[in-house]
Amino acid sequence: MLWDFAENNIFAGAAGDYYVSLENMVKALEQLPTTASGKALHADAQEQEISKSKVVSTDPPYYDNVPYADLADFFYVWLRRSLREIYPGLYATIAVPKTRELVADALRHGNRENAEAFFLGGMTQAISNIAEEAHPAFPVTIYYAFKQAETKGDIGTSSTGWETFLDAVIRAGFALTGTWPMRTELSNRMRGSESNALASSIVLVCRKRDADATTVSRREFIRELNAVLPEALMDMTRGGINSPVAPVDLSQAIIGPGMAIFSQYAAVLEADGKPMSVRTALQLINRFLAEDDFDHDTQFCLHWFEGQGWATGKYGEADVLARAKGTSVTGLTEAGVVESGKGDLRLLKWAEMPRDWNPETDARVPVWEALHQMIRALNQDGEAAAGALLARMPARAEPIRALAYRLYTLCERKGWAEEARAYNELITAWSGVERGASEAGVVGAQSSLDI
Ligand SMILES: C[S@@+](CC[C@H](N)C(=O)[O-])C[C@H]1O[C@@H](n2cnc3c(N)ncnc32)[C@H](O)[C@@H]1O
Repeated sequence: MLWDFAENNIFAGAAGDYYVSLENMVKALEQLPTTASGKALHADAQEQEISKSKVVSTDPPYYDNVPYADLADFFYVWLRRSLREIYPGLYATIAVPKTRELVADALRHGNRENAEAFFLGGMTQAISNIAEEAHPAFPVTIYYAFKQAETKGDIGTSSTGWETFLDAVIRAGFALTGTWPMRTELSNRMRGSESNALASSIVLVCRKRDADATTVSRREFIRELNAVLPEALMDMTRGGINSPVAPVDLSQAIIGPGMAIFSQYAAVLEADGKPMSVRTALQLINRFLAEDDFDHDTQFCLHWFEGQGWATGKYGEADVLARAKGTSVTGLTEAGVVESGKGDLRLLKWAEMPRDWNPETDARVPVWEALHQMIRALNQDGEAAAGALLARMPARAEPIRALAYRLYTLCERKGWAEEARAYNELITAWSGVERGASEAGVVGAQSSLDI
């Protein structure tokens, strides 16, 4: 048997102690407004009428992420014993009702296809119901927090649960008018332990699509994506008035502005006249995370890393790739990003990079090197030291960050959790690093100089 988590001492006087938990609940209750009363009732979202002329903000089930009803049974049987007399309507059934639960449960529905069809049909019906009932003057906000990326086909990454969910929202007659990534999950929750778990929810802001919405061609759709997404991506990674989106959430966050374009039309038509699927739209949107605009050495490292990771590969292959990328193995060795000899080559890990590195005297500094030196400084000496290093190469701040995002996304797709973590940590620590840089004597990052 493998034990992952120790049980708390419930009398320890710290988090998890019964008394401390009770006290926290009382504190929350004391802050709640006392003027309105709450209400709980059983109703299937597909046919409920409580949303009529209301402002609706809803947190629906996420595909196959959580088996709510099964989990609820654990508590339900005990609650039912004590509360059945008080709330007979809520505790009428012996166990929690399951048949109409909107989750894609392959066991309940026989197989994955049936489960997906059930979820899509039910969710479309539930959201159409909200679209019909909600007060027309206000947008409907829908929380979505489900991370699932799968590499499919040859044109990029798609995400099954998300895709099915978006399809339901659009089929229900909504257009997305905005998407807000919001930090909603506790970093110390059990699901986040030792994994790259999602840290944000995406709030979809939806309005009923215009009844006379037009159609556009695939080409026009791509043209609009080109015009909007690069800037949206920059806003998300740099942060403007909002804080930057964490790398762990970026692939999902960028879907928002892309889907805003896609969903405002009655349909985007493919060359053969058929409407474009949500999956294709997502794949086109995802491409924007994979733009190569780094220096030649960094492009080599990126492609080599994608194929080999940190493992040793053949010199001959490296030579061919280096040429394709406009650099050479000798140059890369001089730059201090690879080690090569005896017919092979490998990338240097951040821990192998020299501690006494000086970006001001180094004549060849690929962004790859600068980034991994920053990770080395952060891990070995902390935020202030990483900041001091950044202060000595301020012009590289943005490319370093862009590369960290890019590498994070790559590692995620490959399932390299350990590697992904290093990039995620640098981005998460970025504001502290920038503080360190300005304390070390360099006036803020370029992005904050509004001239
Ligand atoms: C993401 S959870 C909401 C969690 C809630 N915001 C909270 O913080 O406790 C989704 C909820 O939808 C409920 N649900 C699933 N199918 C439903 C249906 N057909 N009608 C109404 N609610 C349903 C689930 O039981 C679950 O409680």
